[in-house]
Amino acid sequence: MPASALRPAGVILAAGKGTRMHSRRPKVLQRILEEPLLGWVYQACAPLLGEDILTVIGHGAAEVRAAFPAYEAGFVEQKEQLGTGHALAYAWPIIVERGYSHALVINGDTPLVSESALRSFLQRCQELETDIAFISLVPEDPGSLGLVLREEGRVKAIVEAKDFDQALHGPKRGEINAGIYCLRVEAVSALLPLLGNDNKSGEYYITDLVGLGVARGLRVEGLEHGADQSLLGVNSPEELLRSEEVARHDILTRHLKAGVIIRAPQSVRIGPKALIAPGADICGPCEIYGASRIGPGVRIASHCRLEDCVLDEGAEMRSFCHAEKAVVGPCAVVGPYARLRPGAVLEEEAHVGNFVEMKKARLGKGAKANHLTYLGDAEVGPGANIGAGTITCNYDGKNKHRTEIGAGAFIGSNAALVAPVTIGAGALVGAGSVITRDVPEDQLALTRAPLRLMPRRE
Ligand code: UD1
Ligand code: CA
Repeated sequence: MPASALRPAGVILAAGKGTRMHSRRPKVLQRILEEPLLGWVYQACAPLLGEDILTVIGHGAAEVRAAFPAYEAGFVEQKEQLGTGHALAYAWPIIVERGYSHALVINGDTPLVSESALRSFLQRCQELETDIAFISLVPEDPGSLGLVLREEGRVKAIVEAKDFDQALHGPKRGEINAGIYCLRVEAVSALLPLLGNDNKSGEYYITDLVGLGVARGLRVEGLEHGADQSLLGVNSPEELLRSEEVARHDILTRHLKAGVIIRAPQSVRIGPKALIAPGADICGPCEIYGASRIGPGVRIASHCRLEDCVLDEGAEMRSFCHAEKAVVGPCAVVGPYARLRPGAVLEEEAHVGNFVEMKKARLGKGAKANHLTYLGDAEVGPGANIGAGTITCNYDGKNKHRTEIGAGAFIGSNAALVAPVTIGAGALVGAGSVITRDVPEDQLALTRAPLRLMPRRE
């Protein structure tokens, strides 16, 4: 039977401060491969739960909202963060009111949970008809996590490591709670008001539902997920990097298997959303993040960083380039040492060379800006040539203005094009000119003072 027959709501607990990260940033906005932790969790549960996702936020709520506008309708604010059980209680009335049968609760700091792990968990909960179920793991080091207590194999309770007392709880076992729960709404509604905070942290623990459920004869299961490191939560910088390394390795392996050539792979970092065509050739060290799309036959040399960029078929990015929200057309060439800022577009076979910066600027087919240039708020026609040192002076201190350069125009070295300005197709701007008025098509524009020669000494 499909797990969807359960009609679950997703509840992501994301209100905590993340004290152990020692950062002002809310923990769920800490990044793994430049994606916030919460984004990873959404990526795993959105295919299963669609719009039925509630997110409990609190610490840094405004920042979290701003980072995920698409999930705005499901945000619930926990004003004071008094524990995971307290957080759940904030979302619960909505779950009851909307008539969900179950709640799939996920700690927001468990970024590497996968869609398939959640799917098979829900499936098993349905088969076993559980009232309360959670995923358990046997990690190398149980650290500060919640320990699963069992008696003759049956789950008895979850005890937080700091509350664990051997005299009371028996010898320590290696099984821990992953922080992912499936709760049958009808069964758990009666238990939530019973949660107390009589523990070392003085917090209301969601994990106490387990002991409470067992005591009332409910069907409670801890479903073991082996030693899978990817389900471990992120609480400290060390754990963040551990998870990042797991994710980095998985993503790299996926691309390599699909036929992408990745050289020096230990130094290549590719985000989870990047799409890379088989046959693309990437050399580390290199970073490709966000919704980047790399086409077939693209070559990216070492020391490049790309974020949300499109590189079309056959494009080449030479070493030491930095590109964000840029589009590099088919067989276009960028770098070495180029900077493409948001809105930079290179059409087919355009060239951008060393120490060239582009922002909201388009280079038409085959156009070239090969050295030491700034193109901002500019449109450059096909086949135009931008000489070394050319600057589009797009900012007058208050506003930004556009520069238009027609097809086949030739801009001599070290020209300053003071925007708004248009250089007509086929026009030629002499080296060193400062252009403050439009230059019509096929005209030569020169603003230099004439060269004078005179004796060096009287
Ligand atoms: C929790 C579990 C522990 C489990 C571990 C797995 C409890 C009491 N313990 O411990 O058994 O092994 O996860 O990673 O649940 N949060 C809120 N509001 C709060 C407090 C926390 O939304 O008032 C959120 C946090 O943002 C975080 C999640 O709940 O995303 C878990 O909280 P955290 O403090 O990290 O719990 P752990 O100590 O890791
Ligand atoms: Ca945690």
